[in-house]
Amino acid sequence: MQQITYQIKERGGKIELPETLGFGKLFTDHVFEMDYDQGKGWHNPVIKPMENLSLHPATMFIHYGQAIFEGLKAYRTANNEVQLFRPDQHFKRMNNSAKRLCMPEIDVEFALEALKELINIERDWIPAKQGESLYIRPFMIGTDEFLGVNPSKSYKFIIILSPVGAYYPEGFKPIKILIQDDYVRAVRKGIGECKTPANYAASLKAGEEAMKKGYTQVLWLDGVQQKYIEEVGTMNIFIKFKDEVVTPKLNGSILPGITRKSVIQLLKEWDYPINEREITIDEVIEKYDAGELEGVFGSGTAAVISSVGWLTFKEKNMTINKGEPGDLAIKLFDEITSIQYGLKNDTHDWIVQVEKKEVGVS
Ligand SMILES: Cc1ncc(COP(=O)(O)O)c(C=O)c1O
Repeated sequence: MQQITYQIKERGGKIELPETLGFGKLFTDHVFEMDYDQGKGWHNPVIKPMENLSLHPATMFIHYGQAIFEGLKAYRTANNEVQLFRPDQHFKRMNNSAKRLCMPEIDVEFALEALKELINIERDWIPAKQGESLYIRPFMIGTDEFLGVNPSKSYKFIIILSPVGAYYPEGFKPIKILIQDDYVRAVRKGIGECKTPANYAASLKAGEEAMKKGYTQVLWLDGVQQKYIEEVGTMNIFIKFKDEVVTPKLNGSILPGITRKSVIQLLKEWDYPINEREITIDEVIEKYDAGELEGVFGSGTAAVISSVGWLTFKEKNMTINKGEPGDLAIKLFDEITSIQYGLKNDTHDWIVQVEKKEVGVS
């Protein structure tokens, strides 16, 4: 395994976190970074003070979008331990994104060790209140200075950290979702299953229009026939019908969420009839009209489980479970967050501890 260089800055005082953290606004003061080129492969792994990137204006990812990222979290438990939720899955998904975008893969074990080292150094930045956590954003960018559409030959892999507050400070409040067919997010055989900026750029216009109309997020239909439901802005979607729980089958245009995978595993263990299959918007409306639609919820790292209270498609307004959070959504939220915050035993091997240790020196 490669040797990480440490450039640790003197803090000269205790870190004071603001009372209200919000999401993605505050960053810790160190980052992990390493470089790639075709001769050396990945090299120069370093943990160093956070600083601005200095890039040539022709740096390739700026123009051609060869960039990928991940989003996961570290949690402080009641016993003051620090733990990660399924980090290996996130780095594996990052490698799948890398393959599709002609970028170099990272060594999952090394990336995890580097992340643990960085978090150990930034331990005091991890908030302690229930619902708060340390958001982790690993990303990779193509860094050749060149204009022309082909894969870059050099890359940077960076991890930054951001202390974040509860996603919904007011509690587990059901959200309002607009089902969209004016725009598409992704198409099969495209890059929808990758965590890459282009997918989020494609979603902005619809998201903005939905927000103006009072909706929290957009539920995307498939990009070809606009008939099948796919996923929400930053969440996968689950529907509880009278006799089964369903979630759209992964088809290449849906991001394979780590929370989605965990929810499916829990539902199977709890003996719920859970099916990954195609779900048309017509089926959703028919079952709603027949009184067979009992609950809808989204799953994702940011909010874990988010109950959906209202769904709108064209003229059709559907109020789910009287706009109240569904029992299954609450049960799943409680189970997953209890594991994340160490309140419940991790029987699935989902948790990775970040041991406290003296900061390494190179
Ligand atoms: C488009 C999209 N779908 C689904 C998810 C949920 O994925 P995960 O559960 O891995 O956070 C996310 C969040 O990362 C996302 O951005």
